[in-house]
Amino acid sequence: MKKLLFTLLLSATTILGFSQGNVYKLGTGKFEGLAMTPPMGWNSWNTFETKIDEKLVKETADIMVASGMAAAGYNYIVLDDGWMTKERDTDGNLVPDPIKFPSGMKALVDYVHAKGLKFGLYNCAGTHTCAGYPGTRGYEYQDARFYANLNIDFLKYDWCNTEGINAKEAYTTMSNALKTAGKPIVFSLCEWGDNKPWDWGKPVGNLWRISGDIYPCFDCEYKHPGNWSSWGVMKIVEMRKDIRKFSGPDHWNDFDMMEVGNGMTIAEDRTHFAMWCMMASPLIAGNDFRKMSKETLAILTNKELIAVNQDKLGIQGFKLSAEDGLEVWVKPISDGNWAITFLNRTDVSKKINFDWKKNPIKDADFGYEADFNKVIFKIKDLWENKEAGTTKKNFTADIASHDVITLKLIK
Ligand code: GLA
Repeated sequence: MKKLLFTLLLSATTILGFSQGNVYKLGTGKFEGLAMTPPMGWNSWNTFETKIDEKLVKETADIMVASGMAAAGYNYIVLDDGWMTKERDTDGNLVPDPIKFPSGMKALVDYVHAKGLKFGLYNCAGTHTCAGYPGTRGYEYQDARFYANLNIDFLKYDWCNTEGINAKEAYTTMSNALKTAGKPIVFSLCEWGDNKPWDWGKPVGNLWRISGDIYPCFDCEYKHPGNWSSWGVMKIVEMRKDIRKFSGPDHWNDFDMMEVGNGMTIAEDRTHFAMWCMMASPLIAGNDFRKMSKETLAILTNKELIAVNQDKLGIQGFKLSAEDGLEVWVKPISDGNWAITFLNRTDVSKKINFDWKKNPIKDADFGYEADFNKVIFKIKDLWENKEAGTTKKNFTADIASHDVITLKLIK
């Protein structure tokens, strides 16, 4: 009987929490359905690191709308590390830096919302963020209430200074804290893939990083002092190409914020963008919108490529073949159609002569198939935005070094 009473009491307290005399509902699990297609937006880190302020955010929001980025689907403005003061206040609350954000964070959130956009912030599961600001460890419920009161829409939650803690539990605690605070917030796990978030992240968050930090190079490893590396775009694509079955609507493999417009060649930027679209990665721009070239804008707002990324099936693409540095990547999309990307990884231009009939597609993870002996597809070139024949004939084209050709095969 005693045991029964204890069990009843325990299950009641998991539903109801008691705090300062109030009774409130403890939530569990992420907010479902907030990211049915990969989130799109902008994050401050890749270009600005901790040199962020309200002027930058307002200008970025203004350009996001005026440039056509918002109309193309980009809607989250996410402030990464460096938005706080180095200490919490005497009540333990986080403090937005009053020098960087003199009008206050709430006013900035309201400004971004008034533009029809959404607002995100960053913190860390550890004692401190990666840049040394107060981390959330031990303050999960308090910080979640702080974010809910600010009315933010997105939280990126990092993994620095977490020695000795369990990743699944740390992220679950924060997820539950957000749910309990009650404001729907996209929860972005930034755990770098060390503890395989794809194995446990689906009920916890809406997206999870799968690698260490990106670096604006095509295929390099950039070694930092202290035994950690940042990764070129192809390194990230290769690193996690085999975990596609864990990604899907509302639980995305996140290939990191983009470096389009941050120093690679136009061909490399096009490849970077095409591959993020093919992999159904979140599309979070990381460039300075105030200095964005028209080429960068054209890449980031390519509607056809974005439609591949945002396709409602939400399936991450895979490598169909590779020969002499010429790779073929495919992604099943709605209505029996496919996206297909030819990618030249070599330093010289190449000729493509692709015989569809000899290259049937079989998606072992999701069961989609295309046999070009049985079905003829119409072809659309998504970069040129024009019809390109059918799969009856071989596809022939020249492809420059580090460049891509992306086609849509239409049933
Ligand atoms: C980590 C993350 C980055 C960025 C920085 C901020 O390295 O992976 O994306 O958030 O921290 O310090």
